[in-house]
Amino acid sequence: MFKRDFKYYKSKKPPPDLEKVLDFNFDYNISLQNKINLQSASEFDGTLTPPKEWDAFELGSNPGLIFIRNPFTPIGQRYWITRCLKDFTRKPNKLNIDVHNYLVPGEHWWEYCEKLGDDKFTEKLRWATLGYHHNWDTKVYDERERVDFPEDLAELCRFLANCLKLGSFSAEAAIVNFYHMDSTLSGHTDHSEKNLEAPLFSVSFGQSAIFLIGGHSIEDKPTALFLHSGDVVVMTKEARLSYHGVPKILPAPSNNPWTTPIKSCNNLDGLWKPFERYVNKSRININVRQVNDV
Ligand code: OGA
Ligand code: MN
Repeated sequence: MFKRDFKYYKSKKPPPDLEKVLDFNFDYNISLQNKINLQSASEFDGTLTPPKEWDAFELGSNPGLIFIRNPFTPIGQRYWITRCLKDFTRKPNKLNIDVHNYLVPGEHWWEYCEKLGDDKFTEKLRWATLGYHHNWDTKVYDERERVDFPEDLAELCRFLANCLKLGSFSAEAAIVNFYHMDSTLSGHTDHSEKNLEAPLFSVSFGQSAIFLIGGHSIEDKPTALFLHSGDVVVMTKEARLSYHGVPKILPAPSNNPWTTPIKSCNNLDGLWKPFERYVNKSRININVRQVNDV
């Protein structure tokens, strides 16, 4: 069932009917979802709106699958997009393109792309891994390949976990996925972590996606939902080990949050422009996991 639905939503000809895709940006089809009361935690910083203004739901069809509609401010959107492209792509983090040695030691991916100005080259970046590095071949986390995890990202996840009353969370590993308009991520479960009770946080920016979330069996029928820029998905409890995937990237709605003018920061517009150019045709997903028990 998962594969059939994945193929259905991935198809270009004929294109899928998007009517049945849950869209939390519109109210008409969310009545079946369970609204979550957020812990009235203190406010975070200028990157997040106050938690009392957030809308969070647990899917009726997929218990444990939590969705928070974009809790980021326009500044927060720009902050995380910039962090992903300019900072999280730096050593000692790992990139899928490392094997090609395009960059000489000390050279940075983002600066190199800016200098080269070749979109085809920029599009070769598909993922960066942070913190505890996952070996894609052996599917294990390697103790010998552990670097510091970005403190701001760990702090964001701790705050989200606290608001959702999920207990303490220690961010130890992350994958930053870079999608282009034709990219997909096929159905899988994330089970390499020793600790499979801790939630998994997934934050998306830029272009929109259809996200499929199924059950523990690939035969279970998945639910399709839209993820727009800033949306947060948290896989908890029975949804932690559910099959999921991204069959399609779609253009973001035109009122997307990263273009909202930021009044006090007009003089930063020039700095932001190259990042805006990137997300105008890409999607970024930050996927954060706790690996160990404590
Ligand atoms: C992953 C993942 C989902 C997404 O990186 O394991 O499931 O929304 N990403 O990109
Ligand atoms: Mn996953």
